[in-house]
Amino acid sequence: MITRLLTDTAEAARILEGGGLVAIPTETVFGLAARADDDGAIKRIFQAKGRPQDNPLIVHIAEEGQLAALCTSVPEYARRLAASWWPGPLTLVLPAADQVSRTATAGLDTVGIRIPDHPETRDILRKVGLPTAAPSANRSGRPSPTTWEAVREDLDGRIDAVFKSGPTAVGLESTVVDCTCDAPIILRPGAISLTDIQAIHPEARHRDPAEAVGRSPGTRYRHYQPEAIVRWVGPFDQATTDAASEPGEPSDRGIKKGYIGLNAPPGDYARLVIATSLEAYAHRLFHFFRECEQEGIMEIHCERVPLKGIGMALYDRISRAAG
Ligand code: TXA
Ligand code: MG
Repeated sequence: MITRLLTDTAEAARILEGGGLVAIPTETVFGLAARADDDGAIKRIFQAKGRPQDNPLIVHIAEEGQLAALCTSVPEYARRLAASWWPGPLTLVLPAADQVSRTATAGLDTVGIRIPDHPETRDILRKVGLPTAAPSANRSGRPSPTTWEAVREDLDGRIDAVFKSGPTAVGLESTVVDCTCDAPIILRPGAISLTDIQAIHPEARHRDPAEAVGRSPGTRYRHYQPEAIVRWVGPFDQATTDAASEPGEPSDRGIKKGYIGLNAPPGDYARLVIATSLEAYAHRLFHFFRECEQEGIMEIHCERVPLKGIGMALYDRISRAAG
C-alpha cells in the first residue's frame, strides 16, 4: 500500500467513506481515522498500529448533535463539560449505544467521544458525516505524532493517506474523563486540568491509581516509549541551579544526552530545549523524543514539573516514558 499525502479535505473524506485509513491532524496529536461503523476498517487500525485489541478507540464527531446516537445517557455535568470545552482536547466516556461497534470500544459498554478543535479535520468529519474512530497515529508504544512527518515515520505503507498540516498545537493527547459516575473522573490528564473540570463539577477527581486497569485500559500499557532512557532531573530554577546540579557519573562520559525543561541545566547536552512555559514544554515533548532518537541520543533528561495545569499531563507522559 502506498501512503498518499493529502491536502484536500474532500479527498480525505472520500477515502474514509470507502473504509480507508487516513491520518488526520487534531489540536492534540495526529489521529489514525476510520469510519467507526466499519469493523473491518477498525481492525485495520489495530493492525496498522500493532495495538493491543483490548485498548478502546476514541470516536470523533464534528457536531454535538451526533452524540445522541452514540450513547444511552449523558449526565448534566457531561453536557456542561461539552458546552465549555468542545471543540477541544477533552474526551468524554459515556455509556455506549447498542449500535456502537464493540470492536472500536474493545468490548466495553462505554465509548470515548470528542470533537477535535482543528478546522480541516472538522471539515473532513463533516464531509464524512459519520462518527470516526481515531487513536493516536503512532505505532503502539511510540510517542504520539505531532507532525505529519512523524506519522509517516511510523505508518508509511501501512495506511492509505496522511493529511498534511502544520504541527499540532497542544502536543499531548486529550484529557479523558469518565462520565458514567455521579462525578467526573479523569482517566488520562491532558491540557484541560482537574481545576478546569472542578469548575463544572466540584467533586471531580483524578482516577485512583488502584482503579487504573478496569477504567482506562490504555493506561496499563507502557506508552510513549522512546528508544533512549528517560530520567527526571532538577528542577533547576535560578536559586537551586548549583545545589541541584547532578554531575554526570564517570560512566556517563561519551553518552550523548538530551535535555528538555523550563530552565537551563548544568552539564553538557547534545540537544537542549528550554521551553518558556509548561504549555511550550508539552508542545515540544514528543517531537523532542523523536529528534533525540534520530540523533542517536541514548539518555534523555526531563526537568521536573509543577503538578498544575498541563503539568499533570507532562508528569503522566514523562513518567510513563521513564517506565
Ligand atoms: O487527543 C487524543 O485523544 C488523540 C486524538 C487523535 O484525538 N487520540 C488518542 O487516542 O490519544 P488513543 O487511542 O491513543 O488514546 C485513547 C485513550 C486510551 O488510553 C484509551 O484506553 C482511552 O482513551 N479510552 C478510549 N475509550 C475508552 C473507554 N470507553 N473507557 C475508558 N477509556 C477509554
Ligand atoms: Mg495513543
